[in-house]
Amino acid sequence: MTKTKVSLFERAEQVTPPIAQRATKLGVTKAEGSYVYTEDGEKYLDFASGVAVMNVGHNHPKVIEAAKNQMDDMIHAGHNVVYYPSYVELAEKLNELNGGDKMVYFSNSGAEVNEGAIKLAKKVTKRPAVISFKRGFHGRTLAATSITASNASYREDYEGLMPSVYYADYPYAYKSGLTEEEEVERCLNQLEEVFKFQVAPSSVATIVLEPVQGEGGYIVPPKQFLQKLREICDEHGILLTFDEIQTGFGRTGKMFAYEHFGVEPDILTLAKGIASGFPLSALIAPKKIMEQWPAGTHGGTYGGNPISCAASLASIEILENEGLKNAQELGQYFKDQLLQLKEKYSTVGDVRGIGLMLAVELVKEDGSPNAELLGKLRNEAQEQGVILLGCGTDKNVIRFIPPTTVTKDEIDRVLTVVEEGLKH
Ligand SMILES: Cc1ncc(COP(=O)(O)O)c(C=O)c1O
Repeated sequence: MTKTKVSLFERAEQVTPPIAQRATKLGVTKAEGSYVYTEDGEKYLDFASGVAVMNVGHNHPKVIEAAKNQMDDMIHAGHNVVYYPSYVELAEKLNELNGGDKMVYFSNSGAEVNEGAIKLAKKVTKRPAVISFKRGFHGRTLAATSITASNASYREDYEGLMPSVYYADYPYAYKSGLTEEEEVERCLNQLEEVFKFQVAPSSVATIVLEPVQGEGGYIVPPKQFLQKLREICDEHGILLTFDEIQTGFGRTGKMFAYEHFGVEPDILTLAKGIASGFPLSALIAPKKIMEQWPAGTHGGTYGGNPISCAASLASIEILENEGLKNAQELGQYFKDQLLQLKEKYSTVGDVRGIGLMLAVELVKEDGSPNAELLGKLRNEAQEQGVILLGCGTDKNVIRFIPPTTVTKDEIDRVLTVVEEGLKH
């Protein structure tokens, strides 16, 4: 009798805990461009991109070449011990991309760099409090969890988190039913109330937010909201932190999403797409702020790994040469097509996003969240060889996060699959 092959999923179930659960049961052994290949030889069009990480596609030859060259020279000598070229070059490049006069500190993950942002803001302002936003997601270490409010499940049983965190409303006009202007006003009034009743602005070190919310539902705020927050921070000496861990590196068609809003943060946190899958994150802030952060009061062993930095430099070059332009052009095409689906199907409540950070909010006839349809649609897409992810507090939003190198044909294929799912 021939032994039936045991899948990677089945083996993992025996030795890895539920906390490490995946969005699919796929066992994958190879990836290239917009595709991943399973242990059974099946090919899947990947519109998850390792959750907004593979922004220049899987295994881009230029990224591989840069990483291999770096690996031949040196894997790790420690950023706490020595200086090395890829680290310094990447810091110079990120400084240049962010207008100059900045300094860059490297860590490994998104959560870790957000921890750094909170510590930097507290250290420099000597203030205790942090304001973050409902539906915001900033990672799952303890301080990052403390400022995360995209779903109470991330916090349940972990309460007793970092103290002095206050939550403000993030504009979500589709949900509130208000006009964008009214929604901005409502949120700013609510923030005023936070200042009036809960925490004096003079106690606030930083206001932290995603310039476009990710896990919370791909929610794009009106420009005025971010502009007004900038003014409020300036007025009260609060540092404005943008978490661009998901929105950065070409995801929205610009290198960083803040460029769409004409608002510069004081502290910028980056990860995910920064190095095409090699672990790396960065915290960027003006020199005058960074110079006040004493050596050794934050850090880690692995930050700014040489291979990750080399991969990042190559990824940025690809984005500059082709990715950004493609994300803008095909992002617009994709969004226009999704908007046409909204005209045809009442279950499409909202279409939103910028560049290739796009989403469709699914609703029932009465307008309430339709999480069942999202589940069905994702399963059917997978049966047809397409990987899609969901997001949103109510788990009723499909998010589309293909690589910036995606083709029109690949987008068309996904549109067909989505429309099939919406038909019944
Ligand atoms: C906006 C945002 N911030 C922070 C994080 C946490 O990053 P990491 O998973 O690398 O810790 C994520 C991850 O999804 C994110 O989307």
